Amino acid sequence: MSEMFLVTGGAGFIGSHLVAALLAEGHRVRVIDDLSTGKRENLPEAVEFLEGSITDAALMHAAAAGIAGCFHLAAIASVERGIEAWLATHAVNLGGLITVFEALRSRPVPVVYASSAAVYGDSAELPITERAAKHPLSAYGADKLGCEQHALVAHHVHGIPTLGLRFFNVYGPRQDPRSPYSGVISIFCERLRAGEPVAIFGDGAQTRDFVFVADVVAALRAAMSGIKSGDVWPAAVFNVCTGRATSVCELAETIAGLCGRRADIRFAPARKGEIRHSLGAPEAARAALGLGEPTPLRQGLAATLNWLETTPLKP
Ligand SMILES: NC(=O)c1ccc[n+]([C@@H]2O[C@H](COP(=O)([O-])OP(=O)(O)OC[C@H]3O[C@@H](n4cnc5c(N)ncnc54)[C@H](O)[C@@H]3O)[C@@H](O)[C@H]2O)c1
Repeated sequence: MSEMFLVTGGAGFIGSHLVAALLAEGHRVRVIDDLSTGKRENLPEAVEFLEGSITDAALMHAAAAGIAGCFHLAAIASVERGIEAWLATHAVNLGGLITVFEALRSRPVPVVYASSAAVYGDSAELPITERAAKHPLSAYGADKLGCEQHALVAHHVHGIPTLGLRFFNVYGPRQDPRSPYSGVISIFCERLRAGEPVAIFGDGAQTRDFVFVADVVAALRAAMSGIKSGDVWPAAVFNVCTGRATSVCELAETIAGLCGRRADIRFAPARKGEIRHSLGAPEAARAALGLGEPTPLRQGLAATLNWLETTPLKP
């Protein structure tokens, strides 16, 4: 059945992939985005587009009219911005989520929202299960944890069914390699395919759990279906990860191999405060949301490189 979904932050990296998937399923899609990092050209014509901030309560009310569910992805997804502009990022990253819930109080519909592995901080427990201690090390992570707490309130006090997804390191086409906040994969892909050296901070043995954007979209859609059908507890939070650790050196070598060359790695001093290992436990999400096997890293990297090859960079 065709339904209308609202996607906040739909012009961004993850949001634009979700929008494409929803449209392909025959749904109608409304996007609210202030284009601070998102791009209008990431969205097809078929989308109803509202340009503005999720912190604008009147605009959010208009955006919520007639929707069957909301995917809340808009955020200032940057630890660095949280340091430079603590209060302003808090207003968007936590205040924005509450504005979304406020707009839905009078007519509750399910909300699937983006949380982050940043809620765990430097976890001693590996792989990190949903029950691991939450010790965020940044304003960004603290706000994402706050989102989870307010989502519980939205459910218990206001009857809004919610489901939070803690994304680990998401990668794939449309992650802007020129952005100072883009992931290590975008930067490595861009440099290694051009035959340029890459900088690795520290010894390169630090590991991350890299999850391909298509798998994240599958989790978002399964979460919405699960919450609508009542199959998933309506205030749950799950990891979205692969359960596979990849070191930064291994990542550089794999990308270089896909480009048909050896990686020219320049080691730089370790960054202060960088987390050594991040590895998620995907089992709970797989069981609750019926998710399949994650996309193998080589396959996801090949798709990302292919996108870079075929997409001319715009100034
Ligand atoms: N990419 C990752 O690895 C990752 C990991 C964990 C969590 N997340 C979360 O996933 C979500 C999507 O992240 P992304 O990687 O696609 O980042 P992104 O920056 O590409 O997308 C965020 C979108 O939100 C929009 N936005 C920002 N502030 C807004 C505001 N005030 N009003 C309206 N729109 C606003 C931006 O323009 C952008 O289109 C975010 O909530 C982010 O915190 C991402």
